[in-house]
Amino acid sequence: MNWKSYQKYFKGKKILITGNSGFVGSYVSLTLSLLGSKILGYSLKKKDNKYLSNFPEYRRRIKTINDDIKNIESYRSTLIRFKPEILIHLASQPLVSQSYIQTKNSYETNVMGTVKLFEVAKNLSSLKNIVIFTSDKVYKNLDNNNLNENSPLGGEDPYSASKSAQDLISNSYKLSFFKKKKNVFLIRAGNIIGGGDWEKTRLIPDLFLSNFKKKNIYLRNPNATRPWQHILDVVEGILKVILVKGKKVSEKSLIYNIGPKSNKDIKVKLLIKKFIDNSNLIKIKFRFKNIHFKEKKFLRLSSKFIKKDINWQSKLRIEDAIQLTTKWYYEFFKNRKNIFNFTTYQIKVFFNK
Ligand SMILES: NC(=O)c1ccc[n+]([C@@H]2O[C@H](COP(=O)([O-])OP(=O)(O)OC[C@H]3O[C@@H](n4cnc5c(N)ncnc54)[C@H](O)[C@@H]3O)[C@@H](O)[C@H]2O)c1
Repeated sequence: MNWKSYQKYFKGKKILITGNSGFVGSYVSLTLSLLGSKILGYSLKKKDNKYLSNFPEYRRRIKTINDDIKNIESYRSTLIRFKPEILIHLASQPLVSQSYIQTKNSYETNVMGTVKLFEVAKNLSSLKNIVIFTSDKVYKNLDNNNLNENSPLGGEDPYSASKSAQDLISNSYKLSFFKKKKNVFLIRAGNIIGGGDWEKTRLIPDLFLSNFKKKNIYLRNPNATRPWQHILDVVEGILKVILVKGKKVSEKSLIYNIGPKSNKDIKVKLLIKKFIDNSNLIKIKFRFKNIHFKEKKFLRLSSKFIKKDINWQSKLRIEDAIQLTTKWYYEFFKNRKNIFNFTTYQIKVFFNK
């Protein structure tokens, strides 16, 4: 499927996107806006001006209500007037580390935020397709297992538990209230890399920010294995689920893992080594650091079902993902004014591959 086929489906569609000021949300929103959809965003504003969502070109294209998801019910009439056909829910407190510090807020945002959003969705008769973006961390992680959509849920740290709850609650709304009226798609994604993430405690932003400051990077979990994938593959996964499955209402929630094609185990330290070896512009070294909170050592996701059901699989090998990401951050540090156009260019090249 290429740009034109997505354009044919998404052009003119009204789409409500929560969490559109963040890393994943800005790519999803920008891609859909370039395809001709009419977007209404709902997010807290990112304080860091480096986020794409704070660029004037982005703000001109994508109208956003800047407020807390916990207040979404006070925008009920605005959202009814907007008449969204599709809702993509990305707003979450997305960090394991932060969830140990701001535990209550993480639950309120990720769990009650989702409940309130569904309560509003009950009044949106225009709405036919709802995407809830959760995580591979929703699973009860039996180390070394290849997690598929039927693996038991049971996140342990507060972030993972909140995403497991988000997943269960969404399924409950589908079965209890939307059976014949709306689709609920649960998308569980592995770790995402790509340009435009500025969350300092994450590996790739930390790498490029450290390199910019000419400081070595400290890896807190060097032997952890994750299903790394590029943001553009993830965006295409979300779009393809809606396009292929959104034309008729299924009786149950449809659940899809989204992960990399190759299930080779890539440890944190190997990923960073690949980034450093790939570019002579990265001149720093990596060191190890102890952490004081628990994170899973091993996460391996099976994306066989989504391949079988809608024929989606990641297009990019890890080497391509590394190259696209490196080019993006270099463009940003070299010529920040051009980054919006550069991101648009990367999106279009990817979709026409
Ligand atoms: N980045 C990854 O590797 C990854 C992997 C799997 C799933 N996810 C999920 O993707 C989604 C987006 O994460 P991201 O990586 O873009 O993080 P991010 O921090 O860049 O974006 C989070 C978004 O949620 C919004 N948000 C947070 N708290 C809010 C609140 N109380 N009210 C309204 N909006 C709020 C932020 O403003 C931002 O727009 C999250 O649901 C996260 O759990 C991310």
